[in-house]
Amino acid sequence: NRIFIPEVFFTNNCLTGEDVIKSTRVLGELDGIFGDRQAFDGMDKDQVIYQVSSYLPVLENTPGGLFMGITTLYPGKVGSEFFMTKGHFHSNSDRAEFYWGVEGEGMLILMNEQREVWAERIFPGSLHYIPGKVAHRVANTGYQKLVFSACWPSDAGHDYATISAAGFAQRLIDVNGVPTLV
Ligand code: 6PG
Ligand code: NI
Repeated sequence: NRIFIPEVFFTNNCLTGEDVIKSTRVLGELDGIFGDRQAFDGMDKDQVIYQVSSYLPVLENTPGGLFMGITTLYPGKVGSEFFMTKGHFHSNSDRAEFYWGVEGEGMLILMNEQREVWAERIFPGSLHYIPGKVAHRVANTGYQKLVFSACWPSDAGHDYATISAAGFAQRLIDVNGVPTLV
């Protein structure tokens, strides 16, 4: 019998299955990425900002393979800046990625190597093609959790260092209730 049941499931806006890896980022691990140092210092560093469940069916760095992940980003702000992911370029910088919105609302913030920044609204059903050489980060601009999914090449890798060192050239700030790049 050559008919099989899949081992990983995309149900309830979550990945489940034995091979799914879950990781959590608490506020303390995002030290330095938010602009308002004073607001950051006054907050609980153990609070969970986002969780990623990923399915890596092949080894990291395998050429030609694909990875898939679902990120749940909680609502909140540090000062007037929305909770967001760390953000990264890919280590193999020309590797592209798809994101798509699943639940809640937010903004995909993008920056090219010339440090030009732009953003796309994320909402359930939105689909985003992130070309190679474009750094990507997501902010939750709503009042409920934001869930988005991603698919990227298994040899993309993550370059967090460039963003840790120089940040994005613009921040997504709540200006009188309107998410604004400044
Ligand atoms: C990737 C994806 C995505 C991302 C998470 C968390 O390349 O793996 O862009 O899965 O890693 O949304 O964001 P950070 O990796 O920037 O913390
Ligand atoms: Ni990525």
